[in-house]
Amino acid sequence: MLWYQKDLPEAELMTVCAFALKTSFVEVVFKGIRYNLLLEWNKGIDPFAENGALFSRDRPTAGMNFEEEVAAQSAGQFTICEQTLQLYGRHLDTWAVPAQDCPTASAVEVDAARRAGYYNGFPCHRQLRTVGDALMLVDPTEHYLRINGRPIANMFPGLYVFTRDRLVVQRRDPLADGILLVEAARDEETGERAVEGLLVMKTVYSYFRRDEQDFIREARTLGKLPAHPNVVPFHGLVVDESGMVDGLVTSYLDGKLLSKIQQATVAERERWASQIGAALKVLHEQEIVWGDVKAGNVMITSSGDAVILDFGGSWTPGWVTEEDADTIRGDWIGYNKIVEFLERLPVPDEDATTHM
Ligand SMILES: Nc1ncnc2c1ncn2[C@@H]1O[C@H](COP(=O)(O)OP(=O)(O)OP(=O)(O)O)[C@@H](O)[C@H]1O
Ligand SMILES: [Mg+2]
Repeated sequence: MLWYQKDLPEAELMTVCAFALKTSFVEVVFKGIRYNLLLEWNKGIDPFAENGALFSRDRPTAGMNFEEEVAAQSAGQFTICEQTLQLYGRHLDTWAVPAQDCPTASAVEVDAARRAGYYNGFPCHRQLRTVGDALMLVDPTEHYLRINGRPIANMFPGLYVFTRDRLVVQRRDPLADGILLVEAARDEETGERAVEGLLVMKTVYSYFRRDEQDFIREARTLGKLPAHPNVVPFHGLVVDESGMVDGLVTSYLDGKLLSKIQQATVAERERWASQIGAALKVLHEQEIVWGDVKAGNVMITSSGDAVILDFGGSWTPGWVTEEDADTIRGDWIGYNKIVEFLERLPVPDEDATTHM
């Protein structure tokens, strides 16, 4: 039993990501809602509830071999995770969202949770913190959004907008921090979806706060993109419950990033170079700059085509210099580096049939 209260079920899923010293971040699915629960060391006077939960009785590691030490450390992490859940379990009323079918919840509460996307997989971010002598729920903008980008006003006229109840977040691990796999929800009457197939939602939380402008650049650029087989298709923006934009939706490209490809036939190299070049020409005709050109921003799809993605701009050392970043000239410099990268890929043995 992970939870402190007897009547609580075993958490369906639990992972710890200790992203800083004296911080625990536990992802847990509870009564169908996905929570990201955060605790941070409280610098005030001890003892604080959160500090107690973050304290793991140090296990002596002297004399242990490497494997034993790793095992002891993960046991310590697990203890912190368990203590975090116990603390949250003792204060359910403070932070838990009512389940959709909860008979005692008010219609207003349930509707707010629905609009926030909590019933269709959007993570519910929570932090408890001692203020005075009470453990309180912290306003989300005061914690996890402190380092990450924040939702922005909709300054993108004409772009399709998904409200959170129109998307369903898949229960899989995020593709990257703040980048989630989603599907369009079915319309209750017609059974149809606004877009078919798996989609990717890149949120503003995947950017550092200092890079918030890059999210705006990406939304603007995606909104202007011409439909092209070698450019990631864009479907619209995501707004949170207060109408602020916090995500962008593109098609999910099933494949492998070019940067991870280890060999290619001569025909594949030529095909990918010409596909990327064709995509760039079409963009440049409309004065759209790709930006952060690199092999890591090209997906080689399972059908063997090169598709460019990531329109957040900026630059990556070794590909385009800061000076040439976000220019058409920089795009071609990056393109030539991609061609060099392709030329360096070993050709597979004759027996090997695939590059994947
Ligand atoms: N449409 C997509 N289909 C499949 N995977 C995707 C898609 N969009 C993003 N990803 C995955 O998420 C990763 C990060 O996405 P993206 O490159 O857009 O973000 P980023 O944070 O700007 O990355 P970086 O700064 O490392 O280039 C990609 O490398 C890819 O693995
Ligand atoms: Mg990228």
